[in-house]
Amino acid sequence: MTKAWTTRPERPSDVAAIRAINAGAFPTQEEADLVDALRADPAVWLPDLSWVAVAPDGTVAGYALLTRCHVGDIPALALAPCAVLPEHQGRGAGSAAIVAALDAARRRGENLVLVLGHADYYPRFGFTPASGHGIRPPFDVPDENMMALTFDPAHPVPAGTIRYAAPFGV
Ligand SMILES: CC(C)(COP(=O)(O)OP(=O)(O)OC[C@H]1O[C@@H](n2cnc3c(N)ncnc32)[C@H](O)[C@@H]1OP(=O)(O)O)[C@@H](O)C(=O)NCCC(=O)NCCS
Repeated sequence: MTKAWTTRPERPSDVAAIRAINAGAFPTQEEADLVDALRADPAVWLPDLSWVAVAPDGTVAGYALLTRCHVGDIPALALAPCAVLPEHQGRGAGSAAIVAALDAARRRGENLVLVLGHADYYPRFGFTPASGHGIRPPFDVPDENMMALTFDPAHPVPAGTIRYAAPFGV
């Protein structure tokens, strides 16, 4: 069942809920710690690109984050992490948060978003294999899991190796 999710950029009062979403959705605290480290890094944290999906009862259940990365020296965005409280998964909260974050990036004039993730989930948002643009990650992953999304087909897309924000530790 799909609920009527409300989406909005994170507020200071959402920080604990966002931590709980990431801690609940992933097997370890690693992603929750990563989000806190990214938020503390002004070089990569972008205002209004950290999005939550809120249930009608006010539960902050879904989360999607875009932070600054580069392909070579050209700025791009990394979509990571995406997470939903386990009891709310499969009801559209993840999609709602991701679509809202991507729309905000588009409005901000960004053109390239990269994601490392499930090859059967992210194509629905328009992602295709990054290798098609000559973009590669700085680590070994199956080609289908490293994906890219561009907003403006007329805009040139940089080729090269992704440089993730320092808190990613890669
Ligand atoms: C992945 C995640 C963010 C998706 O959010 P969600 O709200 O559960 O998903 P939505 O309701 O928006 O979309 C449902 C679809 O996602 C698919 N999906 C959900 N979790 C998935 C997963 N781990 N792998 C592949 N597909 C997944 C479902 O199969 C469903 O597909 P369908 O529409 O074809 O039936 C969420 O399930 C989650 O937090 N999972 C655990 C953490 C995780 O794996 N994060 C992503 C890292 S790449």
